[in-house]
Amino acid sequence: MANRKLFIKSYGCQMNVYDAGRMADVMAPLGYDLVSEADGADLVILNTCHIREKAAEKVFSDLGRLRPFKEAMAAEGRRMLVAVAGCVAQAEGAELMARAKIVDMVVGPQAYHRLPEMVAKVERGAGRQLDTDFPIEPKFDFLPAPQAHGPSAFLSVQEGCDKFCTFCVVPYTRGAEYSRPVADVLREAALLAEGGVREITLLGQNVNAYHGEGPDGRTWGLGRLARVLAEIPGVARLRYTTSHPRDVDDDLIAAHREVAALTPFIHLPVQSGSDRILAAMNRGHDVDGYRRIIDRLRAARDDMAFSSDFIVGFPGESERDFQATLALIDEVRFIQAYSFKYSPRPGTPAAALAAQLPEAEKSARLIALQARLVEIQQAFNQACVGRPMDVLLDRPGRHAGQLVGRSPWMQPVHLEAPATLLGTLAPVVVETATSNSLAARLVEGNSSMSSDRVLAEEAPPPARIRA
Ligand code: 5AD
Ligand code: SF4
Repeated sequence: MANRKLFIKSYGCQMNVYDAGRMADVMAPLGYDLVSEADGADLVILNTCHIREKAAEKVFSDLGRLRPFKEAMAAEGRRMLVAVAGCVAQAEGAELMARAKIVDMVVGPQAYHRLPEMVAKVERGAGRQLDTDFPIEPKFDFLPAPQAHGPSAFLSVQEGCDKFCTFCVVPYTRGAEYSRPVADVLREAALLAEGGVREITLLGQNVNAYHGEGPDGRTWGLGRLARVLAEIPGVARLRYTTSHPRDVDDDLIAAHREVAALTPFIHLPVQSGSDRILAAMNRGHDVDGYRRIIDRLRAARDDMAFSSDFIVGFPGESERDFQATLALIDEVRFIQAYSFKYSPRPGTPAAALAAQLPEAEKSARLIALQARLVEIQQAFNQACVGRPMDVLLDRPGRHAGQLVGRSPWMQPVHLEAPATLLGTLAPVVVETATSNSLAARLVEGNSSMSSDRVLAEEAPPPARIRA
């Protein structure tokens, strides 16, 4: 079959990055190869995000930008198919079809295993296709085996959310919570590890709400899953994101104490440091509850650090509420964070609240909050100088003889190292820090991770680095 070109643009969260990879996997057997430009592509998929207003607006402007490419191809007698996938597709599929004539297909996040069928229908002249079902059959049962691209990979284990925070569209766009069976997850992880993956990031909208069916017929939580994943030869590092404070259970905390591969860095969104706002957000915990979880995780591993998501300017947020958020930031010392101005989303309870804040106030709070976070991040980088750590070397550096990797805390680390180490976990000592990265030197000896035993015995295949 003649090769066809597939261009995918992903917006938003890591789940979308994962989904984009799986869409490429599902189209590959039909002769579609990934390309890095939309111009000239036979199929363009915009894998959209609906979490904040701007994300959705970008989709419409990107669709506008595609039009000349599509027209140029039509002039040559070729056809560019345009698909909108992801959460905007789910939430506004019909409107998208009506507003953007360029769109040939709309496919929701739970239905993209049906993409080949949809493409075939459009090509057969069956007209534009829309599929935003939440099918009974999980899409995972219909997707081909994932491909490893480099030493780090995402693995989706859980999807959807039943928590209904009052600001959030996810429960509407991604549907109810669903956990993949343990056997499925293990199979996918083993394939990735065989393909050279050393670090797996388990994904889920509420990843620590994971409750998959185990091979023993029982329900397994994330802690138990992590213990077994860590035993897979080659798997040296495990991360998970995004977690919810309400779902941090005793076993997950114990796993952080016992499983060396679990990184001492957890993304644990708190959104606000004010009890009043947390209640209005329907987060299901107060500030003290959050504090207790942080303390217990730090007790499990003393090198534990945290990142978070923050929303400023939630309806009714007073200056005092905002100051409470800053105080919590100072207390927990988050080393990384994503922070957002509250954005009213259609159909969510908070959008209907009367006490919406002026845009200027939201902007001022965002700037103040981000300044505080940057200070803490820089101090953390400085505090890493002199510290030994393991770095997953995942790409060549700017100059010959240099490699770049990631620390357990996600900092980029630059060092002099032979190219043969690409794709491995290497022990280093940090020598200097800048505001955004570290520079380190290789040290002799095994890294502290138990699975490195395996790395020493079998060299990983050459890593393919994802652009
Ligand atoms: N406005 C602003 N930020 C939001 N988030 C989710 N919904 C909204 C919204 N309506 C943020 C939260 C969440 C992250 C993924 O996006 O902080 O944790
Ligand atoms: Fe959205 Fe809250 Fe569910 Fe996270 S827990 S996806 S913020 S509703």
